[in-house]
Amino acid sequence: MTVFTDNLLAGHAAFVAGGTSGINLAIAKAYAAAGAKVAVLSRKPEKVEAAVAEIGHGAIGFAADVRESDAVHAAMRSAADAFGPLSIVVSGAAGNFIAPAAQMSANAFRTVVEIDLIGTFNVLRAAYDVARKPGCRMINISAPQSTAPYWGQAHVCSAKAAIDMLTRALALEWGPEGICVNAIVPGPIDGTEGMARLAPTPQARRIAESATALGRFGTTRDIAEMALFLASDAGRYVTGAILNCDGGQTLSGGGAFSPAVIAAQG
Ligand code: COA
Ligand code: NAP
Repeated sequence: MTVFTDNLLAGHAAFVAGGTSGINLAIAKAYAAAGAKVAVLSRKPEKVEAAVAEIGHGAIGFAADVRESDAVHAAMRSAADAFGPLSIVVSGAAGNFIAPAAQMSANAFRTVVEIDLIGTFNVLRAAYDVARKPGCRMINISAPQSTAPYWGQAHVCSAKAAIDMLTRALALEWGPEGICVNAIVPGPIDGTEGMARLAPTPQARRIAESATALGRFGTTRDIAEMALFLASDAGRYVTGAILNCDGGQTLSGGGAFSPAVIAAQG
């Protein structure tokens, strides 16, 4: 039985929020290569323009901030006008920096929660209005910080934990209309902005690798193929699931990332 084919997503229209770099861009490229029409959204026009060119296959892009619900709604409507009802929506825009809570301003905490959590609500809420019903697949990008505390990550831990619960709540409410809502939990993915911020030194990189059961970084392809599965017909009975694609990072928790442990690595 052939499951993944070149035209796996033919006839589908996908919208990837945060789809202009890293993991989300890899997802957007995989969807386009699989035959879907693809739209991406992020804040910086130059990143949007470059991503649209890199994705090819007639992709379109929108420069908007996921914190602005009206702008997200407008982009989503434009994508649906161009492509027809959206059948795949990914919410992956996020912000991160390492900061101990005691040195984090209220605005620093709020900024990450607004991008990650409120942004995810804005994206999925707008998508609901232009979704293909039944049949739309909505996919949130979570993180191992959603289930274990990580040092310097109080804002991300709080936001991603809430994204997991939002995933379940929307899956429950929208399931009767034939909408599947799931989340992917990536592990440490090599060559991404996220890892550059979380593991900026060789010592921190070694810890990030050894914090996975498989002892190595993942690739953007690993996550893109999980996102392909969830968007494809093979994912038709999966909803409300928080799916780890993390090399087993979630098994070990975040204590290893404390400054004391990193310093002890020498
Ligand atoms: N340590 C402590 N506080 C920080 C910080 C850091 N490294 N970086 C930003 N902040 C604080 C700022 O000081 C500000 O708080 P203040 O007003 O009390 O001074 C607050 O966070 C907002 O910063 P600002 O730069 O205005 O936010 P922004 O909306 O322009 O950018 C960020 C959002 C900060 C998350 C930015 O890093 C970003 O755009 N990230 C996107 C890319 C990314 O993080 N990728 C990895 C995904 S895992
Ligand atoms: P990335 O390359 O920085 O991607 C973030 C994307 O979101 C960019 O396209 C960025 O573009 C956009 N974005 C940021 N803030 C935005 C906003 N307010 N409004 C609209 N778009 C915004 O990061 P990444 O490392 O690939 O991470 C992607 C996702 O995977 C995130 O959800 C992250 O939490 C998750 N994750 C990553 C890892 C990892 O190892 N990298 C591990 C676990 C989870 P603009 O700057 O143009 O806005």
